[in-house]
Amino acid sequence: MVCHLQTCISSAISIRHSVQKQINLRTLAKSMASTDHGGGGEEVINNKQVFLNDYVSGFPKESNLYRTTSNIILKVPEEESGKDAVLVKNLYLSCDPFIRGRMQRDLPPDRPELSSYSLGSPIVGYGVVGDIEQPIVGYGVGRVVDSRHSDFKTGDLVWGNTIGWEEYSLITSPEYLFKINHTDDIPLSYYTGVLGMPGMTAYFCFFDIGSPKEGDRVYVSAASGAIGQLVGQFAKLIGCYVVGSAGSKEKVELLKTKFGYDDAFKYKEEHDLDAALKRYFP
Ligand SMILES: NC(=O)c1ccc[n+]([C@@H]2O[C@H](COP(=O)([O-])OP(=O)(O)OC[C@H]3O[C@@H](n4cnc5c(N)ncnc54)[C@H](OP(=O)(O)O)[C@@H]3O)[C@@H](O)[C@H]2O)c1
Repeated sequence: MVCHLQTCISSAISIRHSVQKQINLRTLAKSMASTDHGGGGEEVINNKQVFLNDYVSGFPKESNLYRTTSNIILKVPEEESGKDAVLVKNLYLSCDPFIRGRMQRDLPPDRPELSSYSLGSPIVGYGVVGDIEQPIVGYGVGRVVDSRHSDFKTGDLVWGNTIGWEEYSLITSPEYLFKINHTDDIPLSYYTGVLGMPGMTAYFCFFDIGSPKEGDRVYVSAASGAIGQLVGQFAKLIGCYVVGSAGSKEKVELLKTKFGYDDAFKYKEEHDLDAALKRYFP
């Protein structure tokens, strides 16, 4: 699902269940109010950003986020901090499930790799990792505006992590930034989906870890989500028999009519999952 930023920001959370979760920044970028030049002759431009207002508990609300505008110089800093940095104009942002996790103050102890986002307020603490104001970060697609990294040059299209919910991101550690060899037949937005993190997760988890072979019987839970719908389609491509479960009648229909699942069921109506699986895989 691709939607306009103004509506996306207000409903960023409610689209979590959608098949694809992408925010198109192109229109917003065109409406940028002003440009200026810094003392060194560099171009200075408005940079709209989305910050976390307060930590989320339960279902996120619009008031958990706020939007602000800062200035950004369209040049990677000459100082040491800019060494290997890449400045990117963001084109698409991806609203992924892990972002909801990072919006809460207390993270599950079994996910030590995750840290909470810093609040936009200068008053931070409470064991929160990071003490500087920073926009929400995640995955996205962008175009390189300036670069001091040998792998990227101005004009390159890229996808990857550490792209912020903002119009321009200065990425100082581009280890998880990947160059896109763009062809016109593939929409750039696909790099937030099947060709991006959800696609990589589905592909490598299913093929490398699952080691499936033709004729295998495959069950996929959360089957209509970003990862599940891809796993089901990969499984069909190699000749597996695939059954998925999802949380609503509409999602079950989608699995059978659009994503090519052989069969699907609504898990909320099943009291005994083992019994359900025996029914679907007799
Ligand atoms: N380790 C990694 O590298 C990695 C990478 C990507 C994703 N993941 C994980 O893989 C899982 C699937 O990711 P995804 O991108 O496919 O997510 P998604 O598109 O949001 O789909 C997740 C599905 O989970 C189900 N669900 C069950 N309880 C839910 C709840 N309380 N709130 C929201 N959804 C709920 C929903 O389907 P129903 O309505 O059918 O229940 C939803 O469609 C997530 O747990 C994600 O964190 C891990």
